[in-house]
Amino acid sequence: MRFVRWAAYLAIALIVAVWAAAWLRPGLFGTLTGALQAPGAVSVGGPFRLTDHTGTAVTEASFRGRFMLVYFGYTFCPDVCPTELQTVATALDQLGPDAAKIVPLFITVDPERDTVTALSEYVTLFDKRLIGLTGTPEQISAVTRAYRVYYAKATPKDSSTYLMDHSSFLYLMGPDGGFRALYRQGMSPDDLAKALRARLAG
Ligand code: NI
Repeated sequence: MRFVRWAAYLAIALIVAVWAAAWLRPGLFGTLTGALQAPGAVSVGGPFRLTDHTGTAVTEASFRGRFMLVYFGYTFCPDVCPTELQTVATALDQLGPDAAKIVPLFITVDPERDTVTALSEYVTLFDKRLIGLTGTPEQISAVTRAYRVYYAKATPKDSSTYLMDHSSFLYLMGPDGGFRALYRQGMSPDDLAKALRARLAG
């Protein structure tokens, strides 16, 4: 257990460091993203097996040929997730017809509460293009490990329900499924649309 806790601390420290770097030195963030793509570097993404918000079983191969814009969160999230999903929806609107080249995916880190029905009600609030994905705790654990996502249950005092702490990045994966870019939380829809347009063109 001790090792697990230290590993979790290390993961958080790494996420905070990347996040801080993104804020302090936007250029450096590009460098870090580049480093993630370098051969032999830490891999991001990979195969997954999940269920979408219509109840259909999907894998990463279901989205081949299109970019995947992946966000991890949960439907009970009080603030960060709704803001980010709204940013994605607005950015896609700004891309116009090019948005069809991108599949926006919302993968839950809270499979216990985020059933197919819960996800279906949630994602349609934001955008009809948005696909919600859930799975067994094992499937969610596997996909979050592949994407280096940190998440943990957090129960506030005097509360019968729980929140989920989770890292908050948007991952852009290419039509071949390979990692292309990481976007930090809090980007404006304009900036996100601009960044996506550049990736679609290049
Ligand atoms: Ni959230």
